[in-house]
Amino acid sequence: MLFRYLASGLILGSVAAALPSLPLSTKGRDILDSDGKLFHHVSTNWPGHQEAMIPEGLQYASVEEIVSWFPKLGLNSVRLTFAIEMIDDIYANSPNQTLEKSILNALGTANGTGVLNQILAHNPTFSKNTTRLQVFDAVAKELDKQGIILHLDNHVSKAFWCCGENDGNGWFGEKFFIVENWIRGWSYMAKHNWPTFASVGLRNELRNAATAEPVDWYTWYTHMTSAANAVHEADPDALIFFSGLSFDTYIDPIPLGKTLNGTAGKATANKTAKFIPDDFAWKNKIVLEIHKYDFEATQDNCDAFTSKWYEKGFQAVDASNPATKYLFPMVISEWGFIQNGVYFNQTTYNKCLIEMVDKWQVGWQQWELSGSFYLQTRPGRVPQETIQDLDEAWGLLNHNWTAVRSPVTVENSLAKMIAALQQ
Ligand SMILES: *[C@@H]1O[C@H](CO)[C@@H](O)[C@H](O)[C@H]1NC(C)=O
Ligand SMILES: *[C@@H]1O[C@H](CO)[C@@H](O)[C@H](O)[C@H]1NC(C)=O
Ligand SMILES: *[C@@H]1O[C@H](CO)[C@@H](O)[C@H](O)[C@H]1NC(C)=O
Ligand SMILES: *[C@@H]1O[C@H](CO)[C@@H](O)[C@H](O)[C@H]1NC(C)=O
Ligand SMILES: *[C@@H]1O[C@H](CO)[C@@H](O)[C@H](O)[C@H]1NC(C)=O
Ligand SMILES: *[C@@H]1O[C@H](CO)[C@@H](O)[C@H](O)[C@H]1NC(C)=O
Ligand SMILES: *[C@@H]1O[C@H](CO)[C@@H](O)[C@H](O)[C@H]1NC(C)=O
Repeated sequence: MLFRYLASGLILGSVAAALPSLPLSTKGRDILDSDGKLFHHVSTNWPGHQEAMIPEGLQYASVEEIVSWFPKLGLNSVRLTFAIEMIDDIYANSPNQTLEKSILNALGTANGTGVLNQILAHNPTFSKNTTRLQVFDAVAKELDKQGIILHLDNHVSKAFWCCGENDGNGWFGEKFFIVENWIRGWSYMAKHNWPTFASVGLRNELRNAATAEPVDWYTWYTHMTSAANAVHEADPDALIFFSGLSFDTYIDPIPLGKTLNGTAGKATANKTAKFIPDDFAWKNKIVLEIHKYDFEATQDNCDAFTSKWYEKGFQAVDASNPATKYLFPMVISEWGFIQNGVYFNQTTYNKCLIEMVDKWQVGWQQWELSGSFYLQTRPGRVPQETIQDLDEAWGLLNHNWTAVRSPVTVENSLAKMIAALQQ
């Protein structure tokens, strides 16, 4: 990897790896391309799941310019997030699917009109009538042109910022999380023609909910395997990523082959299941995903950090652990922190994350590319925040999507995470 990022923001040389030959499949703990070559996801997240249901940033840059950041940053893939509401609207033949309605409904007529005009100015092939799905299609076409693999992540059902407990999107059967619509949405998205589409994340950050189906591994098994069946039927080539519980912070029961239990006193009482890869038509497509943030501003040394984290699911990639029953590839599908030029060195998180990737050789998807959002609503916060054009301090790009926000941070985190996979 020739990657040199100067503090001036000038990229000296960047050679993106050639697009792997699709489809991808799994073998033990590895993801292989169709030539049998090892593939690691080296990605960032590009959100398209918030109120407007349009990938972020198009009021500041063209699809082509935004996609060009992937090869420039040395990334080979994108985790593009979407809301099931987008597919529900397709089935309902809703008039709200156009770019015009999507933006005006989200931002109001006064501010929305300006933002819509900015989007059309930067992206002259779009019109007011271009639909959300057509915008996603344009993104997919450009990803193909620039050699970037598409990973589709179902982030939410109802379109807004993820994730809070009891926000309605968190667990099967919760207010917005209607299981049938979710599965129908996956059938639709997996069947759709996306040139470099290679993998799906069934559901982002499953988590507790007070009013929903029982929150237990048995319920997880039932619905996750149904959704995986639907994806596999629609596209037998796609890899299928499985999120763990508690905001996808642990998934160890799956590699350890534990019995997946229901909950005493609930509808799933006494019910059990086992996740046995050989039971599934998609047994060579299973990938486990895990998230790791630095909410505790860790000062742990890396031995403590990596050994604690290992127990949350990295047994999946450790053939030498006698407790590991099934090997699966693992991808850290979210990690990140503020891109302010100093944070990366203020806690041990960044350093230890790089060590973890170096040690276990797992792919990753940084959170996130966006320098700003059309609109962000974060329910559950008091006062509830609904902010237009919100700055995203964690974004790799600056507010107007024209440059890297913090080159020194990228040099000390993203670039080192890439290097950790290249020995
Ligand atoms: C379209 O959006 C408007 C404004 O948010 C809403 O009132 C209306 O119910 C939506 N129509 C459909 C068919 O979803
Ligand atoms: C519209 O934009 C203005 C200026 O950018 C901002 O102050 C205002 O809060 C926005 N309106 C809404 C409803 O968010
Ligand atoms: C958008 O759709 C409306 C209603 O179908 C139509 O009248 C209008 O001509 C279309 N505009 C463009 C730019 O395609
Ligand atoms: C399910 O229950 C069994 C029996 O109590 C227990 O051994 C197992 O660890 C439980 N599974 C999980 C994932 O906690
Ligand atoms: C679950 O098993 C226990 C102990 O065998 C039994 O008492 C209870 O009635 C069962 N509950 C259900 C809902 O079947
Ligand atoms: C920050 O950088 C200094 C100087 O390189 C180093 O000694 C220190 O360990 C770093 N701190 C963290 C938390 O990485
Ligand atoms: C984008 O923002 C940067 C500062 O963050 C500024 O220097 C630059 O002029 C802006 N570009 C445009 C096109 O607004």
